[in-house]
Formats: sequence, structure tokens, C-alpha cells
Amino acid sequence: IQEKKETIIFRLNNEALAFFKLNLRTNEARSAVKYLKERDINVEDIQFFEIGYLPKNNSLVNHLLNKGFNISDIVDAGLGTYNEEKQKLYDIFSDRIIFPIKNENNEIIGFSGRIMEADSDRPKYLNTRETKIFSKRKIAYNFSEAIKSARIKKEIIILEGYMDVISLHKNGITNTIALMGTSLSQYHVNLFKMIKGTVKMFLDGDEPGIKGNIEAAQTLISNNQKVLIVNNPTNNDPDELIKQGRKSEVEQMIAEALNPLEYIISKKWNKVDTKDFNSVEEFMKEVCSFVLKCNNQILFETSIEELENITGLSKESIIDFYKKISRNKN
Ligand code: GTP
Ligand code: MN
Ligand code: MN
Ligand code: MN
Ligand code: MN
Repeated sequence: IQEKKETIIFRLNNEALAFFKLNLRTNEARSAVKYLKERDINVEDIQFFEIGYLPKNNSLVNHLLNKGFNISDIVDAGLGTYNEEKQKLYDIFSDRIIFPIKNENNEIIGFSGRIMEADSDRPKYLNTRETKIFSKRKIAYNFSEAIKSARIKKEIIILEGYMDVISLHKNGITNTIALMGTSLSQYHVNLFKMIKGTVKMFLDGDEPGIKGNIEAAQTLISNNQKVLIVNNPTNNDPDELIKQGRKSEVEQMIAEALNPLEYIISKKWNKVDTKDFNSVEEFMKEVCSFVLKCNNQILFETSIEELENITGLSKESIIDFYKKISRNKN
């Protein structure tokens, strides 16, 4: 009876992880070790997050072939690419620091490799491509660990990058996961139900981060998940703030997380030129379409009152506005 492809890929990933970890202890990993040190990632962090390294020269694929795995399985696991012309198998993650990505059952589904050099022609991060067990929409880095403290605190914090997870973890904030630059999906909504508590969105403080927070909140609210958004007024991500010695600021931001309506209003209103009707209209459009996508009656009612206070528009015209944009959508 033939082994299922999924099972083979899990076995390959376990073998690869052992190899990556071993390689971080060799002389070839000197620049990787130096890089980790610069980022304040210590021996305990390396052990806890099972960080490794893959040198150049196709050492992983050769190792896997020696272990008896076949070419097509290695390719299907996303660990190698095969060149038909040269009839040769090549490593994918060469010369990168490797972070294993696990699923909610603590099984390794894929990897992410980061370069060590500051500027490079190579992409900064490289993730496992889509495989039978790895899908971009289903990444919740550190979930199998985070759930332990998240259940106790009744709160899970959603970060953008795994460097942010590692940074907060070593500073005692362990109930965090990273989306790794992907958007929050139904998969995540279902995972968070296991916590029976609040989801706190805490993506980077830049524009993409703000957009990501708002979109995630829409998905969560329309699935009846309680959600708050951490207002990060800086342009830095949590890891950078920690590095700057601003840990207490980070803790305060988390503690003072806003409800999503307050968040979107505070982020968008300060960009409005109140003398410019188009600018006010654009603001109304953004807030109202957010509220409509959330599909929540209480939020809808609350928003009318809030918008009245902020813009000075009458209740009637706000409701008209809502009618107008819901017509335009259909
Ligand atoms: P560091 O410099 O390591 O701190 O990363 P960053 O804070 O600049 O990462 P960023 O905020 O840009 O992205 C957050 C997450 O998105 C990362 O942890 C990655 O998982 C993912 N990501 C960022 N850049 C890339 C990229 O070029 N390719 C891929 N596949 N993922 C990326
Ligand atoms: Mn970046
Ligand atoms: Mn970012
Ligand atoms: Mn960062
Ligand atoms: Mn970042």
C-alpha cells in the first residue's frame, strides 16, 4: 500500500527541519548566527522557534536523496526544484535562515527563509510554495504555542511578521501569531473560536498594516468574533519598537486597543480636510462601507451616532449616505 503524499511531505519537512537546525551549528552558518545575534535572537529563542540555516550548494536535496526520498516527492514538498535539462535537483531555500511554519496541530507544513544581508537582489523572505499541505491562506505562525496562553488570557494578538512574534514572545507576550503578510481568512476565524475570547489585531503601523487591520476586523465582526485593534501610531512594527526599548509603549498600546469603529475613524478622520466636501465624502465612504461589510446591527446604529458627532452631519443624511453606497454596491 502506497504512502499518502501528505504523509511523505510531513516526513520530508521533519527531516529538513532537523537538517536546518544542525546546519546552524556549523562553520558555514557564521553569518546567519551573526545576523540572529544582531536581531537579539538568543539560544533559547533559536531552540523554542526551531530556527535553522541552509547553506548553499544543494546540501538539503542531496541529504534527502541520501535518506532515500525520491525526486518527485522532494519537488512536491516544495523543498527542491528539478532542472530537466541538467537532470539535477536544486535547493530552494539556499543561504537563508529558516523558520519552520507549523499548523494548529504543531506539525510542520512549510518553511520561511530570510536572507541575512541588508540589501540584496534576492527577495527578503521566501516561503514554501503551495503544496498538498501548505496554503498561503492557512498560515498562523506560532498558533500551536500561542493558544496555550491565549486560552488563559482569553485574548490572541495577531501580528504581521514572525520576527514580531519572536520579539514579543521573549518579552513575555506569548499569545501572538503572525499572518506573515497574508490576509485573515475563514481558516483563522475558525481557529480563533478555540480561544473563546478577544482577537486583537496588531499589524504594522504603516498604510498596508492599517488596511490589513480594517479588512481583518470586517471578516471577524461579520463572523461574530469579538475584535479590538491596536492603534500603533508609529511607523514601526512591534519588533522595531521593542528593539528601540519601547516595550512599555507596546504593552500600553495592546492594553488600550480600540474598538474597530473608533480605530477606523481615528485613522481616517485626521486625514480629512473639513473644508473640502470631497474629502469628507471620501471619509464617509470609507467608514460606511466598512460598517456595511461588518454586517452588524449594533455597529451600524453606533456608527450613525459617532459619525454625527464627528462630521456634524445630521442622522438623516448619514442614513441617506448609507442607502446610497449600499445601492451602488448592488
Ligand atoms: P524584517 O525586516 O525581518 O523585520 O521584516 P519586516 O518587518 O520588514 O516584514 P514585513 O513587515 O515587510 O512583512 C511581514 C511578514 O510578511 C514577514 O514576516 C513575511 O512573512 C512576509 N513578507 C515580507 N516580505 C516578504 C517577501 O518579500 N516575500 C514573502 N513571501 N513574504 C514576505
Ligand atoms: Mn518590510
Ligand atoms: Mn509590514
Ligand atoms: Mn520587522
Ligand atoms: Mn514589519
